[in-house]
Amino acid sequence: MGNIVLLDDLTINKIAAGEVIERPVNVVKEVVENSIDAGANKIVIEIKKGGKQLIKIIDNGKGIQKDDMDIAIERHATSKLRKIEDLEKIYTMGFRGEALASIASISKLTIISKTANDEFGNKLVAEAGDIIEKEEFGTQLGTTIIVENLFYNVPVRYKFLKQDATEFKYIKDWVQKEAFSNPSISFKLINDGNIVFQTSGNGKIEDIVYQIYGKELKENLVKVNYEEDSIKITGVVGNTRIARDSRKDQIIFLNKRNVRNQILSNSADQAFKGSVGIGKYGFFILNLEMPANFYDINVHPTKMEVRFEDENKIYKVFYHAIKSAILSKDFLGNNENEQNEKYITNEFDFLTNHFIENKENNNYFSKIAYNANKSKNVLEDNDLIYRKTQREVKYKYIGIIFKTFIIVEIENELYLIDQHAAHERLLYEQIKDNYKNHISSNSQMMLIPEVYNLTHKEFEFVKQNLEMFKTYGFDLEIFGENAVKVNGIPDIEYRSKSKNIFLEILDEMITNERVSLKDVEERFVATVACKAAVKANMDLTQEEVDYLIQNLLKLKNPYTCPHGRPTTIKLNEKDLKKLATL
Ligand SMILES: Nc1ncnc2c1ncn2[C@@H]1O[C@H](COP(=O)(O)OP(=O)(O)OP(=O)(O)O)[C@@H](O)[C@H]1O
Ligand SMILES: [Mg+2]
Repeated sequence: MGNIVLLDDLTINKIAAGEVIERPVNVVKEVVENSIDAGANKIVIEIKKGGKQLIKIIDNGKGIQKDDMDIAIERHATSKLRKIEDLEKIYTMGFRGEALASIASISKLTIISKTANDEFGNKLVAEAGDIIEKEEFGTQLGTTIIVENLFYNVPVRYKFLKQDATEFKYIKDWVQKEAFSNPSISFKLINDGNIVFQTSGNGKIEDIVYQIYGKELKENLVKVNYEEDSIKITGVVGNTRIARDSRKDQIIFLNKRNVRNQILSNSADQAFKGSVGIGKYGFFILNLEMPANFYDINVHPTKMEVRFEDENKIYKVFYHAIKSAILSKDFLGNNENEQNEKYITNEFDFLTNHFIENKENNNYFSKIAYNANKSKNVLEDNDLIYRKTQREVKYKYIGIIFKTFIIVEIENELYLIDQHAAHERLLYEQIKDNYKNHISSNSQMMLIPEVYNLTHKEFEFVKQNLEMFKTYGFDLEIFGENAVKVNGIPDIEYRSKSKNIFLEILDEMITNERVSLKDVEERFVATVACKAAVKANMDLTQEEVDYLIQNLLKLKNPYTCPHGRPTTIKLNEKDLKKLATL
């Protein structure tokens, strides 16, 4: 007899389970998704010992017929897909017909269910995939799935589970995300007998944000409701005040499914560029709805990764959705009819965005035209949108407090403008403009060129980035070993009368080495702006204030300084009254 044998069903299912079910949260996901597919609008999730002992999920969906119960736990048994072509128009969460079979093979699984046609309900119990009990069972409409002793017959898997609290945290995070994409479903999560999280199912995503993140966050959200090219995008985007240090709070759902995708991340970065600081990430929770043939979700068994058929289109529409939300926010007298105005301008593409268009290889399953090195921004000039910048705003200048905040009144609102942050943003844009417009001599020559002796490290940095220094207006010469001669500095107005602007910038660039290579250039320009700008505690004349405000209003992104600090705080009468009653 040869060595090759056919595997038995249990072994096959256990192997398949390994792909889909790695830990308790995966069970919760599969079972809850089934409840959603069954049309439930109320789902209760009960967990014991991080899900290792018990996962019980009760829904009020359409239920499973008696005859379908045994089949449901068979591999490749699904009510959702009949043939391969259906994959292109699938809107349900499940379609493989694998989840219940997998779970059944590695736990004790109980299904209790009743459909609208059944007089009584039914119950089925399976252990390691074998049905050990089947009976009529009184229950209400819907399905209850009970998973006990998960991985009891897969000790290797069990061994790799984390502590109960950690496993529960995964479950909680997942359920909370799911609540975002299904605001009309009421979720209740119970851990070892305590209700941990609950939503009303009233359809309002802001209420769920409030539940999870608290009041401050809720107040800094901008709603998104955007549609273009059969792609609908709804949800919320955070303003500059709640920018994050990681992508953790960039949550995307595609036809209700939580997905990750590099194209979408890049597109969001592009949209947030300038509105959040360098190295910061915008906050958003967005639902994308589009025809199922626009993408392929069948890339990986956990269904997290997605590939888009037309990546450029997705990139553009996602960018527009976020950008117009950012622009709709009022800033320094922005008025209604300026919102969402699109117009063409050549944005200097500062931090280029990262992909090659892959026109030849446009077929459905084989493309991922993403490459971090050979980068090309897919947005054409007329895809970019900005706030309209040429406008007159009437403001009443009130004064400066703490030698730091300029106070002005515009249309019944009070603005506190941080003089340093605002000037910094202004200079930053000026330096970029100088470069963009190829101003031939964007340096102002020093009367007497200065020679600096540098440390080895400083010298190396200058040598390696000589082009960058030159590009942005430093006229430099290497002057023997470890010395540099500075003939000119960027042509902007310096308020900081420091003679050593070059050294200060160099120092800053070297001490802050954490920055990724990609960000060096952007940070460099930000540092030049910062060092040249008005500081807090410097006196400004009214003329200078006027200049600052007028020019700030002309910027595309006046909202924050390049490092992400807000340039302006806005208060209206209501806010002030609220403060006064505290
Ligand atoms: N809560 C539920 N309510 C109603 N029917 C259910 C429920 N859970 C499972 N079913 C039925 O059992 C079938 C098998 O479920 P299973 O999760 O194994 O497969 P699937 O959802 O079709 O595909 P996938 O493996 O991709 O999740 C489903 O197609 C559905 O008909
Ligand atoms: Mg399923």
